[in-house]
Amino acid sequence: MDRIVIAGGKPLRGKVQISGSKNATLPLMAAALLANSPSVIRNVPELRDVQYMADCLRSLGADVEYGDHMLRIDPRGFSISEAPYDIVRKMRASIYVMGPMLARLRRARVSLPGGCAIGSRPIDLHLKGFEELGARINLEHGDVIAEVERLRGKEFNLSGAAGSSVGATCNVAMAATLAEGTTVIHGPAREPEVVELLGFLSRMGARIEIIRGRSLRITGVEGLDGADHTVLSDRIEAGTFMTAAAITRGDIMIEYACVDHMEAVIGKLREIGVCLDEMHEGIRVRGDVEEYHPTTIQTWTYPGFPTDLQAQFMALLSVVPGQSLIREGIYVDRFLHAAELIRMGADIRVLSGSATIQGVDHLGGAPVMASDLRASAALVVAGLAAEGTTLINRVYHIDRGYEFMERKLQQLGADVARITDNEPDEAAVASA
Ligand code: EPZ
Repeated sequence: MDRIVIAGGKPLRGKVQISGSKNATLPLMAAALLANSPSVIRNVPELRDVQYMADCLRSLGADVEYGDHMLRIDPRGFSISEAPYDIVRKMRASIYVMGPMLARLRRARVSLPGGCAIGSRPIDLHLKGFEELGARINLEHGDVIAEVERLRGKEFNLSGAAGSSVGATCNVAMAATLAEGTTVIHGPAREPEVVELLGFLSRMGARIEIIRGRSLRITGVEGLDGADHTVLSDRIEAGTFMTAAAITRGDIMIEYACVDHMEAVIGKLREIGVCLDEMHEGIRVRGDVEEYHPTTIQTWTYPGFPTDLQAQFMALLSVVPGQSLIREGIYVDRFLHAAELIRMGADIRVLSGSATIQGVDHLGGAPVMASDLRASAALVVAGLAAEGTTLINRVYHIDRGYEFMERKLQQLGADVARITDNEPDEAAVASA
């Protein structure tokens, strides 16, 4: 199990390039299964989760080549309609293969993903969507089995209590591309990663219209062809580097950030007192100009503030003078990082889906434990500013979603190193 050791206190300076988006890449990979010919996906980040998804597609009969930030997926051998527990437990996003299985093979047997470190994560909306399209759903020995003679288009609402679902929208939209007739999905997720998938599907020959930005109309076609696509950059990685620059009072240039997708995040940073200048080369983030002020953050679906940056902002706010408040609207239990930040000296109280953060003068380095991907990122952000040394255990979470994290930080002047030892990291719990 690798660990990351950080000697904190150095302001970040220099340039960093943002990689392709993990959460856009994963559904694109599943979508490639819908085609009758190979797809090429470019600007793919080198990540453990992409590797897991590649293994998942191979186990279904597809041929997958992955290297040099590129994927070539040949779906012509796709013939297996079962994704077993061993695959799904490693990564929840493997549930994305269910839509393509139903559309192409008329049957899907996928192990039901269990809970994970960010809380209970049901898949009822995915199943509801498949049922609306005519599938029969059963649960057997921990597996969901969906079967259908022919998927048929229908009009229905797919939003749930916590708003729209990224995963359900992607999964059901993929199934609908090959259904008979027209499907209208009200209340779809509008995250940039979902829009990216819809663009890829259209390039493959799917007929998709976004109606007034609020509904999707998908007219089923007989077959789809492979497509060539370049993945958009990772807005969560960009936001993580913004908080790292801010907390260290640094001055960095972030290249290849999709700032158009980051309005809520940029707005909050400005409110705190971080200077952000959109320039030709990228976005410059300066934490050394103004005093910082506390703020209130409510996470919600896009274009709201992303839950995947909540932990990193909590780290930042823990050293902002005054009282800040974070309300988690998507995963009410996604606060495991708070206890670790408290070990570093933060003053945080968590109560029923909210965290009150009283800014402290400084954090102190400590040995801490990463519980999930974004919690790990928050601990890195905190460690960069803390006095003394922070030792982060279980960094395999970081390798699932951040490409070359410590190398990028080193280039920005941070004193960060990875300690590698040979213990297996099989304790990993799927959170993607
Ligand atoms: C995606 O997960 C991301 N994962 C998550 O990123 C991200 O936190 C999440 O969207 C929210 O933005 C990938 O893209 C691979 P949802 P997903 O379905 O699709 C509830 C990271 O760190 N819900 O949009 O699983 C659900 O419990 C990861 O990169 C249902 O009730 O999220 C949540 O409250 C972690 N029933 C809300 O909807 C369902 O059937 C949004 O979840 C599905 C979801």
